[in-house]
Amino acid sequence: MDKFVVHGPCRLSGKVNISGAKNAALAILPATLLVDGSCHIENVPDISDIRAYLEILESLGSKITKISNNEYIIDNSNISSAIASYELTSKFRASYYLLGALIGKFNDVQISLPGGCNLGARPIDQHIKAFEKLGASVEVLRGNVYAKRTTTLKGTSIFFDVVSVGATINAILAATLSDGVTTIENPAKEPHIVDVANFLNSAGAKIKGAGTDIIKITGVNSLKQVSSYSVIPDQIEAGTFMVAATATKGDITINNCIPKHMEPITAKLVEAGAIVEEFETSIRVKMDSVPNPINVKTMPYPGFPTDMQPQISTLATIANGTSVIIENIWESRFQYTDELAKMGADISAHASTAIIKGVKSLYGSPVKCHDLRAGASMIIAGLIADGTTEVYEIQHILRGYENIVDKFTALGAKIEFVPDNSQK
Ligand code: EPZ
Repeated sequence: MDKFVVHGPCRLSGKVNISGAKNAALAILPATLLVDGSCHIENVPDISDIRAYLEILESLGSKITKISNNEYIIDNSNISSAIASYELTSKFRASYYLLGALIGKFNDVQISLPGGCNLGARPIDQHIKAFEKLGASVEVLRGNVYAKRTTTLKGTSIFFDVVSVGATINAILAATLSDGVTTIENPAKEPHIVDVANFLNSAGAKIKGAGTDIIKITGVNSLKQVSSYSVIPDQIEAGTFMVAATATKGDITINNCIPKHMEPITAKLVEAGAIVEEFETSIRVKMDSVPNPINVKTMPYPGFPTDMQPQISTLATIANGTSVIIENIWESRFQYTDELAKMGADISAHASTAIIKGVKSLYGSPVKCHDLRAGASMIIAGLIADGTTEVYEIQHILRGYENIVDKFTALGAKIEFVPDNSQK
């Protein structure tokens, strides 16, 4: 199996450039299906989930011109099918945005139930509720989701029982070309939701209030081509490097980011004892002491992001006291703690709570990635551990972090990609 080999301990120092936001780009790509004409998208992260999405769009008839690994012109004027194959759509979670985008233009849409990180149950009842309120009929059968409509969707009012990033984005996508006005209450407010709304508005959509408690969408007949749209920087990638700098008592500057998006992460790292300086499009993180213990509750934005939970827990393993981490979003996001325990962490996780008693140091060990963010945390653990850590199942990391080995190496980390030669 391919692996990363990390030699620790090390102190990170220097500068790192953040890539485009995975969870914004994975929604903007399907959003281009609503546009008559081409869309020029920049700052697209070069990660495997993006490459998978581009393959799906091509399978639907999309014409994609690759300008660079981070820049594409996507023309969906001649999309010929609204049926996306299981092999493609079951690879990751964001494929369900095809439902919201395609039901805005086609009467019959079929996609397989999405895949994605194993975080416990990942229901789509709120997505279905939004589509049905807009006038579509939705059926889940034999692993596929079938959405049908007999006429243009009609504006409505949607109240989400649960704050859901995916359902909020899917409701926006489905309502954009509908007849009338749609209001969405109790929406998710993450930066990537604002980015999708900004992209659609740049094509002539009428979406107001993204990022607030009420989103109002006035349906339009069509969307015009987008000459240039740049995806926002990835707040979770930036946060991952912020935690890595703190955990390794380093001093790094993170460029191409939006400090405001990292506020909950910054606040927690300052509590842990880090010195954080914010600039217009960069943030500097310095740490020169053993971290203080921290208590974290993951919440929808602007609360502490669940996608930073494994990373902050890894920092807590070497704190000078006991930390309590409560995971309020996903029912099973502590599987990685078994891996940290192999490295000497004193961590006990049960249901939605992990109690972490800080130890003096971790030691290197073979570990595996349970999901994308847990995988990034294994790298952080390897950077602070004494000795060598082999990180397996790295395909999870490659789904969401662009050039992660080069970026950490440039900061002074001793990390290398070792292919599995036995595969030959
Ligand atoms: C998105 O997943 C992200 N993925 C996840 O990031 C992230 O953890 C999550 O939002 C929360 O921020 C992408 O954007 C591709 P949700 P999503 O719908 O949309 C419940 C990463 O590491 N729920 O906001 O699937 C659900 O069970 C990934 O980049 C329902 O009950 O998450 C969960 O408890 C991992 N019914 C909560 O809402 C629904 O219909 C939040 O889920 C939908 C969700």
